[in-house]
Amino acid sequence: MMQDFSPGLAGVPATKSKVSFVDGQAGVLEYGGIRIADLAEHSSFLETTFLLLKNRLPTNTEFDQFSDDVAHHRRIKYRITDLIKCLPEHGHPMDALQAAVAALGMFYPAHDVLNPEVQYLSTVRLIAKVPTIVAAYHRLRRGDEQIQPRDDLSHSENFLYMLTEKAPDSFMAKVLDTCLILHAEHTMNASTFSGLVTASTLADPYSVVSSSIGTLKGPLHGGAAQEVVEMLESIGVREQVRPYLKKKLAAKEKIVGFGHRIYKVKDPRATILQQLAKRLFAQRGPSPLYELAEEVELVGEEFLGQKGIHVNVDFYSGVLYKTMGIDTDFFPAIFAIARVSGWLAHWVEQLEENHLFRPGQIYTGTHSQSYIPLAQRG
Ligand SMILES: CC(C)(COP(=O)(O)OP(=O)(O)OC[C@H]1O[C@@H](n2cnc3c(N)ncnc32)[C@H](O)[C@@H]1OP(=O)(O)O)[C@@H](O)C(=O)NCCC(=O)NCCS
Repeated sequence: MMQDFSPGLAGVPATKSKVSFVDGQAGVLEYGGIRIADLAEHSSFLETTFLLLKNRLPTNTEFDQFSDDVAHHRRIKYRITDLIKCLPEHGHPMDALQAAVAALGMFYPAHDVLNPEVQYLSTVRLIAKVPTIVAAYHRLRRGDEQIQPRDDLSHSENFLYMLTEKAPDSFMAKVLDTCLILHAEHTMNASTFSGLVTASTLADPYSVVSSSIGTLKGPLHGGAAQEVVEMLESIGVREQVRPYLKKKLAAKEKIVGFGHRIYKVKDPRATILQQLAKRLFAQRGPSPLYELAEEVELVGEEFLGQKGIHVNVDFYSGVLYKTMGIDTDFFPAIFAIARVSGWLAHWVEQLEENHLFRPGQIYTGTHSQSYIPLAQRG
């Protein structure tokens, strides 16, 4: 029997999951039952990844083993580097990442997806190699040499090192690590869902992740952090904030970085990112871009707050990535470095009891039309 149609499947449960929980009215997000604020304060991205994958925190031994395994799989084959070198330098980083991840699947066949060893090894490989691919394209498209990963550095320290070849700044690496924790997972979002549709055919995990990357690229999902920075740059000065927002809203245009399908209060991840930005800029000196962002939030709240539209996770993350020297068009790829954990956690969970996704449709076409031969159609 056909259920009521819900465009975009809004409110329709697509799966049962223990990976994460969100309450958009109360502003609560939990991974494996642990509040996001606690993870942001006390955990690391790799520990959080273990939590997502196993639904519990690791013991010391398990954490050391998992971190070592990830660190030892950071390198990419020179043929993957060659593939990245062949891509146009003005191409979108998400397309480069999607192509390279799909190619990884040819080097590391993982067809026996129900085998726990295959699941573990491909999970470790993807989490380890996605940052290396992103950093390689960031440098290679400028004509710089790729920097080889170092396995003595943490996940985020190593990523910043691969971008700049400079000794990593531990506070900046901590800021990035927290951003990765906050972006690692968010229940049944579009990119996770598209990965699960691919996974439901028992496709290999590289195909699953490349499907998710394609979905994350869109401006309604992973593209907003980039657009927030572009908006702040176009506003330019504090005095222009109010006229800019008024003009946009009068034209019935959306303010990027505001609003969320689930949250009707301020996104808890935006609150954490804002505190992080405050700490960073108190230590490193003021950031005009951050100050402008705060002003946009203040004035935006005045216009949109009473409609339940507040800043989302993408509002402050771009300002932080920009401060790290990351190119603006790479912000969705940083999102992917984090979200690969959530995608794979759902992939592993779904394989415990897989069902091929094959939804119905409501047919809106015609019936019993006669076939007119081409020659008679004019
Ligand atoms: C994220 C988003 C797609 C969720 O929206 P949604 O739940 O599907 O809600 P809708 O787009 O249907 O909007 C509902 C109403 O709120 C308004 N609204 C939603 N987001 C808004 C925004 N950022 N600025 C101004 N108005 C907004 C819509 O104009 C609409 O108003 P109306 O009822 O008067 O027509 C939407 O808020 C958006 O496009 N935000 C900007 C892009 C962004 O930041 N994306 C990153 C999300 S993490």
